Amino acid sequence: MRLVLLGPPGAGKGTQARMLESKLHAPQVASGDLLRAAVKNRTPLGVEARRYMDKGALVPDELVLKLIEERLNQPDAAGGFILDGFPRNVAQAETLARMLENRGEKLDRVVALIVPDAEIVKRISGRRTCRNCGAMYHLIYDPPRNVGVCNECHGELYQREDDAEETVRMRLKVYAESTRPLLEHYGRLGLLSEIDGMGATEEIERRILRALGVNDAAA
Ligand code: AP5
Repeated sequence: MRLVLLGPPGAGKGTQARMLESKLHAPQVASGDLLRAAVKNRTPLGVEARRYMDKGALVPDELVLKLIEERLNQPDAAGGFILDGFPRNVAQAETLARMLENRGEKLDRVVALIVPDAEIVKRISGRRTCRNCGAMYHLIYDPPRNVGVCNECHGELYQREDDAEETVRMRLKVYAESTRPLLEHYGRLGLLSEIDGMGATEEIERRILRALGVNDAAA
């Protein structure tokens, strides 16, 4: 399955991508995670990308495309992938289509998570992430057993720097201007499924699997 998850910041793309990996037998490929790893490792690309990420702006296409292409060339993505956070604008979508065409592949589906702005703010302000394994929590909806400590690996939980209120406002603006037009783009191509992103994460996962025609019990 070659799937794209679309949605505004905090819509639950990462949460759902991680849940779907085992059901769809495909790895999550998250452009934000790839960029944050480059920032953490202080690679030249990471140093450049950070200037944009800290402001909530999009990182230039050529930097992101390089990371995505390298990741999709890994053996575990040969049979399929779940793209999370990429593409982010129509130019990236068109480059992705060409990249896949050169490999004799194409997208199977694009799932857009629909979540109201008020909920986005609540989700982002409560998000905490493990520095060590990347596991995600929410202070109210999905709190860790011990404050500030990951259930999985006992790593330290932190709040992403770009989750500060002003940066989130900028990210929402960038989403509306650059990413939302992708709904129309993929709608025209007949690839889009719009999914209600409100409710329990397991229920949202079931909605996605139904839209993909995957039997939850058999997956
Ligand atoms: P990126 O990391 O992609 O961030 P984003 O798209 O803003 O999305 P988030 O990771 O904030 O949210 P999410 O939808 O994954 O939600 P999550 O599952 O975490 O990008 C960061 C930056 O990198 C960008 O601003 C840009 O600078 C750069 N970048 C990335 N890709 C790029 C690209 N292609 N081109 C250019 N630049 C790029 O959930 C959020 C919280 O809600 C969590 O706490 C979770 O536990 C909770 N939650 C999830 N589902 C539910 C639910 N159903 N009910 C209650 N709580 C829930």
